Amino acid sequence: MTKVSVIGAGAVGATTADVIASRELADEVVLLDVKEGFAEGKALDIYQTTSLRGIRTRISGTTNDYSKTAGSDVVVITSGIPRKPGMTREELIGTNANIVKSVAENVLKHSPNAIIVVVSNPMDTMTYLALKSTGLPKNRVIGMGGILDSARFKGYLGLATNALTTDVHATVIGGHGDTTMIPLTRLATLNGVPFANLLSADKLKEISDATMVGGATLTKLLGTSAWYAPGAASAMLVESIVRDQKRILPNCVFLEGEYGQKDICLGVPVVVGKNGWEAIVDYKLNEEEQAAFNKSADAVRAMNAVLSEIGVL
Ligand code: 2OP
Repeated sequence: MTKVSVIGAGAVGATTADVIASRELADEVVLLDVKEGFAEGKALDIYQTTSLRGIRTRISGTTNDYSKTAGSDVVVITSGIPRKPGMTREELIGTNANIVKSVAENVLKHSPNAIIVVVSNPMDTMTYLALKSTGLPKNRVIGMGGILDSARFKGYLGLATNALTTDVHATVIGGHGDTTMIPLTRLATLNGVPFANLLSADKLKEISDATMVGGATLTKLLGTSAWYAPGAASAMLVESIVRDQKRILPNCVFLEGEYGQKDICLGVPVVVGKNGWEAIVDYKLNEEEQAAFNKSADAVRAMNAVLSEIGVL
């Protein structure tokens, strides 16, 4: 039996639960939220689609009763406040750090063997906090951001070439922030053909820039943070874990010298399977890409320092 719990029944959490259920990635999905009745309501609504969609996943919700999440194989943490138009992900740190820390503790009391997926923003710092505050082995804590940012990158590349996004191969590494993410334009291909052969350097730069502010663009349009792609991206990560697919996906993980950085959680390509992230894949960055990665690490490290300044770590 596979069980996945999603903490936070807001738009991202509920969509994650819905995609996991609709694709039958788990036998049981539990949605938990602090707001009275909210997770129960969302879960009941999703549950009532099961006969319509032919879904055999059981789904339930709870108001803050972590015992209902007991025995989860994977727990996805989406709790915290989302950003509003004009806000950066980093501005959420004060509120979300305390929430993520206590959620991670509660989760582990009931699911001591779970793989923890962190989605709450600022995600790189929240992943670092979840890892450090719980003392879990590094492979069991994974921040989800790179899969989403890569999906947005693929989206813009698809639009520019009128190609299906499923034919686009492209990866974003580095931080999950408007100025810290690094779309790897040099390595992006349309079924093996480098986009550098298909689009001008100016167009590629435009696409890279649009990718970096992809979340902010949606926040401006929607008045709050996006949820369909974040939910689908989180579910893709969960799928690779529970099905032990060993997919290579860009995720935020603890680095100990890989990609030239240590004591930081940052986005790099990793093999994902039932043990969490299992290996880091070296994409052999060129000088310019490595410089961007180092700059991204500096910004995330400065954000991580806030955790001790505000007394959470
Ligand atoms: C985003 O980029 C929620 O951080 C997430 O939309």
